[in-house]
Amino acid sequence: MAKRQPLIAGNWKLNGSRHSVVELAAAVSAGCGAVSAEVLVCPTSVYLADVLGVVGNSAVHLGAQNCSQASDGAYTGEVSADMLVEFGCEYVILGHSERRAMYHEDSRLVAEKCLAVQAADMTPILCVGETLEQREADEVESVIAEQLDALLDAGGIASFENLVVAYEPVWAIGTGKTASPEQAQAVHALIRSRVASHNADTASALRILYGGSVKPDNAATLFAQPDIDGGLIGGAALDAESFLAICEAAA
Ligand code: PGA
Repeated sequence: MAKRQPLIAGNWKLNGSRHSVVELAAAVSAGCGAVSAEVLVCPTSVYLADVLGVVGNSAVHLGAQNCSQASDGAYTGEVSADMLVEFGCEYVILGHSERRAMYHEDSRLVAEKCLAVQAADMTPILCVGETLEQREADEVESVIAEQLDALLDAGGIASFENLVVAYEPVWAIGTGKTASPEQAQAVHALIRSRVASHNADTASALRILYGGSVKPDNAATLFAQPDIDGGLIGGAALDAESFLAICEAAA
């Protein structure tokens, strides 16, 4: 099996101020020197330049939380993949459940965005996950399949080569309810086997992150699962000490 370097990504969402994100970025880059996982921070896009100024010469990578599927034109309020590249971004979180639920992004649009990000030589972090109602209705597999298949349809299996998948059960995001390591592992294995049915090598190289109330005290048992290759961290990423403890748990 290919060796996959763990990735710990901080999704800062719509939080902080220009001053506080710089402080947070400085604390993360100062503290992550001995961490063997790849460390990524994703501030809101207006702060990218400030955060790049802090992490640019450190081991910390920079990413965005969304981008347009379009490269340019009449798309008021949007930011393109090429613009994010200019600000040092290497990753873009796409299809987060908050964007799917609140901004009506469907899997087809998310797939188009993934392809736009890859065309700009960045790596999409494709978020998938079921709601509580879907889990209770035994629909986990079909929901995840639909979310993955949209990208397989749009870009083929090649679009899974430069991609990270984040499994984020919607019921675990920001709720303090974490999926058990066994629940998370089961879905991660399902994601990997679905990709493996198209190409086994692509599947074994694919990093699959878990997200949803990851904290310093539950991170290590989650990351010990064979198909969990790190985490997408929301709330706990806003505190440098907690985030660094999670990064260390991925070693
Ligand atoms: P949380 O968020 O860690 O606050 O649950 C995770 C996410 O939404 O990416």
